Formats: sequence, structure tokens, C-alpha cells
Amino acid sequence: MSKTSILVVDDDELFLGVLKTVLEKNGFAVSACGDAQGAEHLFMMSEYDLVLSDIRLNGKISGIDLLSRFKKERPTIPFILMTGFAQIIETIQADSLGANGFLAKPFRQDALVVLIQSILKKEVLPAAEALKDEDYIKLSISDFISGKDIRYDVFVRLNSGKYIKIGNQGEDIPHEQITNYKAKGLNFLYLKKEDFKKYLDFNLKLSSVVTKSKQVDSQKKINFLKHTNELILQKVFTETVDKDLMDQGVTILGSTLEVVSENDDMLGLLEALNSHTDSLYAHSLGVALYSGMIARELSWTSMSTIAKLTFAGLFHDIGKKEIDPAILKKPRANLTPHEVQVYETHAARGMEILSQLKGISTDVMQIVLQHHEYCTGHGYPARLTRSKIHPMAKVISVANDFCKQVIASDSTQPVSPADAIERLLIYPDRYDKTILAALMKLFKFPIPQEFESKRVS
Ligand SMILES: [Fe+2]
Repeated sequence: MSKTSILVVDDDELFLGVLKTVLEKNGFAVSACGDAQGAEHLFMMSEYDLVLSDIRLNGKISGIDLLSRFKKERPTIPFILMTGFAQIIETIQADSLGANGFLAKPFRQDALVVLIQSILKKEVLPAAEALKDEDYIKLSISDFISGKDIRYDVFVRLNSGKYIKIGNQGEDIPHEQITNYKAKGLNFLYLKKEDFKKYLDFNLKLSSVVTKSKQVDSQKKINFLKHTNELILQKVFTETVDKDLMDQGVTILGSTLEVVSENDDMLGLLEALNSHTDSLYAHSLGVALYSGMIARELSWTSMSTIAKLTFAGLFHDIGKKEIDPAILKKPRANLTPHEVQVYETHAARGMEILSQLKGISTDVMQIVLQHHEYCTGHGYPARLTRSKIHPMAKVISVANDFCKQVIASDSTQPVSPADAIERLLIYPDRYDKTILAALMKLFKFPIPQEFESKRVS
């Protein structure tokens, strides 16, 4: 029986030699070629079972051009492209031209052989990893601007269920390249969900807590997260908001919740929020979600910041678990002066509760303590003024007052996002105007001129 023959094209002579050796060792007959014109000539003159080419080749003809020409000539001959982070746009184009597989450089020898064998056997997987949409997390491409190297593998989505790895863990991403992708309209990149959870865990510094914690009952956790998803969809989600930002916000909130619920103490706190009064947990989910979205709208691109904000939003009212539900359920206007005093202790109590857990960042504790401070100095517990309040606490403050209006509580009925913003505008000086303007933008609410030029301070 004759050997399977492969045409390999790469202008890197050394690498071409390595590929030839590896493939021959694995029983293939190999024609190695260092330039596109020579490859075209070979392809026309001989019969090949498969073509493997680098996407970038010296000279005018690229790997994509070869793909296009070869597919026109003999569409059934499989074509694998070797690609990388630098060639995202070309990779997307290559998929539409009928590339049968992609390999992100640098790749392992066994990955190459497995891909070739599966394509030759016509197995279904190969153009992308065999994972489903829900196995990936969509991240704004802006998230990749701040990081010099990629901590995890990065993928581009071609269409439903079809993702291509274009960046390997540990590679550098040149800043100009990202700017270039954005200019060409590529807005999102993807991480595997399991990697994204590790990434969040890293940003929230929860790993030290997790290792010391007792084992979490996985069924309990699954039930709780399912209930949480339902709450988000029924009570927190609102249709008028920017859809892409909402998708990203829900994704980040969902992953944060999964990370948090891996830890028995944290899951205990979430359950305490959920069982204390009917509305406390839904409110906390809303504040976490909208804080993250406001931060995005403010172009705060650091994932570490968004992760801390989402976490702080989730636990900002955790101090309320120590307050009598009878006080929490009363409308504020009906509280006695003593009850007001007790109610207002929840900010400091929250910080205290979180400080007892190892690994919670000081930013998060400050945010929780300050989430009722107003820029005018009329908030509590410390009556701080504008410049003394933590910038992230100012975001939580806006999200908190907004969510009090749009999510039903024990004493109030929900109103529309537009009506909620109108109510916040009754006392606009309480809030940082840039942050309030970001909330308005999220809901396409017309922004008064006085809000346009302010900066978060
Ligand atoms: Fe609060």
C-alpha cells in the first residue's frame, strides 16, 4: 500500500526540515517546499492526499492564496493552515475559503499528527476544538490590551460551535496588533470557560481561601447556581440595555459566582443573602451585574478591576445578614431613628464579615464599607466627600441606587430603567457624574450636557 503523501509549505527552512522529519517518522511521504510558487508547481504536477502550509509565506503569494487556488483546482484535497495570534483576521478568512484545519504555532508534534489523521479519516472535529459555545467565555478584545502575555489559550469564534485557537498560553500579544484587529472590526476573543474561572480566581485572590476551605457539596452548588441563573433572567435582566455589554456582564457574573461557590464559606455567605429576605440576593446580583457593565461603559478595561467590582457588588450588602429582617422590610421612611442607626451599620458589618475571610482584597473591603457614601458628603458611615471615596465604591453606589428602583424589593415595586435614572437625577450631585452618564449610556438615556465633560475622580 502506498504511503499517504503530504505537501508541506513553509518559508522557514529550519522549521520545514523539522516538519518533514516528524511526518516521515509517522509514516507519511513528504514533499517539502519553501515558497508558494514552487508549491503551486508541485501541487499541479503531483497527486497529494493533504496540504500543510504556513499562513504567511515570503513573496506575494500567501498561505491563504494557496488555499484559495488549491481549493478551486481540487476542492476535496484537505488543506491545513499553520497560524498564530498575528494572523487572526486571515484565519477567519481562511475558514470561509474551506480550510480543513488550523494549527496555532507553536504546536506539539502529536497535535499535528492527530489533526492530520483525523482529517484524513474525515472525523468531524478538526477545524476547531470539539467544544460547544457554552464551553467558551467571550471577552472584549480590549481586555487583551493591558496584558503583555496571555495567561491562557485564546480563541476566535468562526461560527456556532466552531472556534480556532490563535494564541497559545505564554505568548506575547503586540499592542499594535490588537489595535489593528479592533480597527478591522474584530471585537471579541474567547477563552475556555475553565481557564476563565482560573483567571477570575487569580484576580480575586480566592485560591488561598479555596485550599483552606472544606469541600463544597457539588449538588448543593449546582442547585444554587441554577436558582441564581433563574433569578438573573427573571428579576435582573432588562431588555432595553446594550445587548453585547449585557452578555459580557452576565458571563462575568456567572463565572464569578462559579468561582465563589467553589468555596464553602463563600457559598455560605451567598446562601445567607438568599435566605435572609426575598429580595436581598436578587438585588446583590443586579448590583454586581450593572457595576461590571458600567465599568465597561467607562472603558475600564482591566479584568482585575471588573472582577473586583463584580465580587464587591455581590457582597456589598452582606452586612445585612446580621440586621433584623423586620427592619430591612420596612420602607426607609417608616424606620425609627434607632432603626435607621441599626440599618446603617450594615456597611461596616459587611466589611467586618469579609475581613474575616482570607484573601479578600482591600479594594473590595473599602468598596463594601463605602457603598452608601455620596459625593456631597451626605452618605454613611463616614460622610466622605467626592475625592475621599474609592472610585469603585462610586460605581457600586450608582448601581446600588439604580437596582433599588428596577428590582422589586420587600417594600417597593420595580420601575423601568428610564424611570429609575430619572429618580437618580433628582439628586445628581450625590453621584460621580461620569459614572451616572455611563449608566445613562447603557440604557441609551439622553445625557444632559452638564454630564458630558466630567471625569471620575
Ligand atoms: Fe447597602
